[in-house]
Amino acid sequence: MVTKAVCLILIVLCEGISANNLTLKQVLILSRHNIKYPLGNVLQKYSSKPWPPQDGSPTLLTTRGAQLEGYMGEYFSEWFKTERFLPEGCPDEDTVYVYANTASRTKATARAFIDSAFKSCDVPVHHKNTTEFDPLFLFVIHNSTEAYKDKVLKEINKKLRNNPKLMAVYSELNKILEIEGSQVCKQDGICDLTKANDTVSFEVGKSVDVTGPFRIAHLVVRAFLMSYYDGKPIQDIAWGQITTPEKWNLITAVTRLNQEIRYTTIADREAPLVQYLIKTFKEYDEMPKLMLLVGHDTNLNCVANGLDFKSIDLPNQFEKYPIASKIVFQRWTDSKNDYLKVEYLYPSWSQLRNGSKYSLESPPQKVVMSLNWCNTDEHGFCPWNEFVDKL
Ligand SMILES: *[C@@H]1O[C@H](CO)[C@@H](O)[C@H](O)[C@H]1NC(C)=O
Ligand SMILES: *[C@@H]1O[C@H](CO)[C@@H](O)[C@H](O)[C@H]1NC(C)=O
Ligand SMILES: *[C@@H]1O[C@H](CO)[C@@H](O)[C@H](O)[C@H]1NC(C)=O
Ligand SMILES: *[C@@H]1O[C@H](CO)[C@@H](O)[C@H](O)[C@H]1NC(C)=O
Ligand SMILES: *[C@@H]1O[C@H](CO)[C@@H](O)[C@H](O)[C@H]1NC(C)=O
Repeated sequence: MVTKAVCLILIVLCEGISANNLTLKQVLILSRHNIKYPLGNVLQKYSSKPWPPQDGSPTLLTTRGAQLEGYMGEYFSEWFKTERFLPEGCPDEDTVYVYANTASRTKATARAFIDSAFKSCDVPVHHKNTTEFDPLFLFVIHNSTEAYKDKVLKEINKKLRNNPKLMAVYSELNKILEIEGSQVCKQDGICDLTKANDTVSFEVGKSVDVTGPFRIAHLVVRAFLMSYYDGKPIQDIAWGQITTPEKWNLITAVTRLNQEIRYTTIADREAPLVQYLIKTFKEYDEMPKLMLLVGHDTNLNCVANGLDFKSIDLPNQFEKYPIASKIVFQRWTDSKNDYLKVEYLYPSWSQLRNGSKYSLESPPQKVVMSLNWCNTDEHGFCPWNEFVDKL
C-alpha cells in the first residue's frame, strides 16, 4: 500500500516518464486545410431562394482561412520555442519538410501555416505538379473481394437507411431550403428529402459515393458551415434560419455521417497515406525534425482509423474532423527512452467564428489520442520502440 501511495505521488520515478522532463525530438503534423469557399453554382438548384453572393471561387481557401491558418502557424511556433524544439533562424530542408495535396486550398493552407511559423523564411511547400488529386491523399476502396463488398455495403446501409438523425436533417433542410419550389424538385422530382432514395456506389479504386438526398444535404450543410466559419452575417447563412447550437448540432449530423458512411467503413492499413506514415516512422531517425502534411478531412479519418486509434470525442465542435484540425504525432525523449504522444488539435466552433488568435494561454482544443495496440500511459505516452515494432 505504502509503495503504491508513494508511486502515485512520484509517478515520475516509478513509471520513468516525467511529462516535464521530456524533450521534444520530432513532430509530424497531418493537417486538414482551413476554411474554403463553398461550392457556388451547384447549390442554386437546391433552393427556391437566392443564395448569397460568394466572394471567392468555390473550393479555394478563403482570405480568413489563410489568416486563421497563420494563427495556427504562430501557435505552433510558440510551442516549439518553449520546447526549444528547433534551432534559431530559418530551418533547412533536413529540418522542416512540408508536403501538400495538389488542391489549391491544401497548398495555400500549408503556405499560410509555414509562412507564419517561420516568418521571413523561404520554406518550400512540396506538392505534385498536376491538377489531379495526389494518389497519396486518395481514400479509396482497396479490397476487391465480394465478402468485403458485402460487409461494407451492409454497414453503409445500416447507417444510411431510415436513420432518424438523417431524417431529422432532411426535414429541417426541406424547410430551410423551401425545396418544393426548387429546381431539383421541378427537374429531378426530389421535393422532399425524407422521401427520396439514396443510391450507393461501390467500386474498387474509387471512394464510396452516395447520391440522392444524402449528397444534397451534405453539400448544403457544408456550405452553411463554411459560411459560418468564414464569419458571414447570420442572416446570410441558411437565410438566417440556424440560430442555436442545438440546430447546428442537428444539421451537422450529416457531415459526421458522411465521414462514417463513405470513409470510416473502408479505412484500412492499405491506404497510401497510412503506408507512407508507417514507412516514415520506421525510418524516423533519418527524417526531418518537423514534417507537415496538408490534405483533407478524409485523410485524418483514414489515418485515425487505418492506424487503429481509439475513437475520441471532440468537445466544442460539431464536425468529426473539423476544419484546420491536425493529428500531431510527437516523439519525446528522456535521453534514455523515446515515447510517442499523439494529440488531435483543432479550433473550437467559437474560435473559428470569432477568428481569434491562439496562444499558449488560449490554445486550440487538444484531445490525446491513443492507439488500440500500444501501451499508453495516462499522459498519452507509449514507448517509441513498441510503437515502431508493432507498426
Ligand atoms: C531530468 O533530466 C535531467 C537531465 O536529463 C536529469 O539529470 C534528471 O535526473 C531528470 N529528473 C527527473 C526527475 O527525471
Ligand atoms: C508544372 O507543369 C507544367 C505543365 O506541365 C509546366 O509548364 C511547369 O513548368 C511545371 N512546373 C514545375 C515547377 O515543374
Ligand atoms: C478483404 O476483406 C475480407 C472480408 O472482410 C477480409 O477477410 C480480407 O482479409 C480482406 N483482404 C485484405 C487484403 O485486407
Ligand atoms: C424508393 O425505394 C422504394 C423501395 O425500393 C420504392 O418503393 C420507392 O418507390 C422509391 N422512391 C422513390 C422516390 O424513388
Ligand atoms: C473572441 O474574441 C475576443 C476578442 O478577440 C476574445 O476576447 C475572446 O476570448 C474570444 N472568444 C473565444 C471563444 O475565442
